[in-house]
Amino acid sequence: SQNPDYDLSRSTPTHLGGMRSSLASYGDPHFSLFLRKVFIKSLGYTEEALSKPIIGITNTFSTFNPCHAHVPQLIEAAKRGILAAGGLPMEFPTISIHESFSSPTSMYLRNLMAMDTEEMIRAQPVDATILIGGCDKTVPAQLMGGISANKPFMPLITGPMMPGSVSGVRVGACTDCRSNWAKYRAGEIDLEDIMAVNEELAPTGGTCGVMGTASTMACVVAALGLTDLRSGATAAAVSSARLRVAENAGKAAVDMLASHRQRVRPVELLTRESFLNAITILQAIGGSTNAVVHLLAIINRHPDPNVRTITLQTIDDIGRRTPLLIDLKPSGEGYMTDFHNAGGMLALLHTLRPAGLLHENVMTYTGQTLSEVLDATPFKSFAYSRQIIRPLDNPLHPASSLVVLRGNLAPDGCVIKASASKDRRLLNHKGPACVFRNSKDLAERIDDPNLNVTKDSVLVLQGIGPIGNPGMPEAGLIPIPRKLGAQGVEDMLRISDGRMSGTAGGTVVLHISPESADPESIFGVVKDGDMISVDMEKRRLNLDVSEDEINKRREERTKELKDEKIKEGKGANGRENAWAERRTMRGYRGLYERSVNQAHLGCDFDFLTSDGPATQ
Ligand code: FES
Ligand code: MG
Repeated sequence: SQNPDYDLSRSTPTHLGGMRSSLASYGDPHFSLFLRKVFIKSLGYTEEALSKPIIGITNTFSTFNPCHAHVPQLIEAAKRGILAAGGLPMEFPTISIHESFSSPTSMYLRNLMAMDTEEMIRAQPVDATILIGGCDKTVPAQLMGGISANKPFMPLITGPMMPGSVSGVRVGACTDCRSNWAKYRAGEIDLEDIMAVNEELAPTGGTCGVMGTASTMACVVAALGLTDLRSGATAAAVSSARLRVAENAGKAAVDMLASHRQRVRPVELLTRESFLNAITILQAIGGSTNAVVHLLAIINRHPDPNVRTITLQTIDDIGRRTPLLIDLKPSGEGYMTDFHNAGGMLALLHTLRPAGLLHENVMTYTGQTLSEVLDATPFKSFAYSRQIIRPLDNPLHPASSLVVLRGNLAPDGCVIKASASKDRRLLNHKGPACVFRNSKDLAERIDDPNLNVTKDSVLVLQGIGPIGNPGMPEAGLIPIPRKLGAQGVEDMLRISDGRMSGTAGGTVVLHISPESADPESIFGVVKDGDMISVDMEKRRLNLDVSEDEINKRREERTKELKDEKIKEGKGANGRENAWAERRTMRGYRGLYERSVNQAHLGCDFDFLTSDGPATQ
């Protein structure tokens, strides 16, 4: 029988699916398809296999990425699911980003991964793609790229690691990394102890086992309706449940194409309400501050302006009515495996349901609405599940786990994880600033016995914003000066334009926008001894210095910049200032410095957002 693909009486090979999707054009579509098949057949594929829906699988394995250690097994399981459902799996690499092996920071590389993911989905003849990610920046990058490419995709989370054990005490990366290191710094434990802890903090592959950024983004994926509610976000990386999640993801990717569903493309599947649900979950789990930046980046990729009405303010508004229910570190005590054993995201959504906090009419990857999914999969709560997933009338924190503050120090906003504060009095506090110009200055002086600082001081770290220290490092958890630590001070009010690991705790204000490197920033002119006040109820963060004095300092600063012989220039985004001239121009770093937007917009490249470069 004649192969219709090469029937020249048809103007194009019209069937959707398989090798025929998104044909590169040589001007002759039949010839394009002919060539494409020539090359893929060199790998031994038959016409029959090539006629199936093609499901791409991103291979994000790297020996430098232990959070993705089990990606090969996940690929194998996903392939099984795809083949069993009648699809053809095709695996391809995209970059792999691990928190500890991504100098200067993983955030610096997130947008590169988003571009890689978007363009490879776009370039290759995939009908849908399974995006395997787990470590902090990988899932956000994949959601950003996947939405921009707008071909159907299924996130497949690598899953959390198991907790370890030291002298009978459970430990896990990386909340306990910090607490144990702080004990070692304060002389409470010795070298031998800290070395034993080092062996056990990450006892298996998989993502950090607390409610850090990786776990938060996994829960966000479930809240967006993009993975299995019972296990997709929480099943351990090393569990058989995780492999079943992978097999089911393969099947689901084929099914979602086969059923010719209307809302299968991410842009139609993900609505404003889907993102509102994600933010509700972010607040209910006591999620990572990093996830705020990521969610805004993902949202600002969406072409629907109605979706893009969601801002930092929306996150705060939702927080005011959402209790923190999940008792995991760093806000509480447990580990991700506990959350999974307690019922995972399915149990959490059922717990939130009666409060009317969810938009249940949103579509999920299954083709059912969230309301239909929850009706079809009831969850019977038990004593242990109520311990880890608190009931509405006994929350871990009544509301506003993540709070957005504004004021003259942060006109475009900043974020604090109020639920992770160790000394709650600091949430309403006024104290004199102890200022560090940048990370180097901090490292040199923080433990100086003559540092002019008391427990009531406000530790200020400038120069670690998206451009000031490219990649916006997770240096916002300023260490307690050693001399105060030795007196038993465990928490202080700390403020920066940088980020903090989602696994960390303390009274730490982050993501000050605009960042201090911006010559117009007031945060950039804070000096030692200035009074800073924070008022959680009023959502205010203020520098109590007169406007005249602030303006005088900004003028001086601009003059200083000129004296450094930095020429006036027209910066990126049309902003006239000397700042732009300081930027390195070569390579990816040049691209990053010219194009990254501020934290309140998601630290995306302006030319990748739906609004384009004008947003900043
Ligand atoms: Fe990968 Fe923490 S280092 S999730
Ligand atoms: Mg992290």
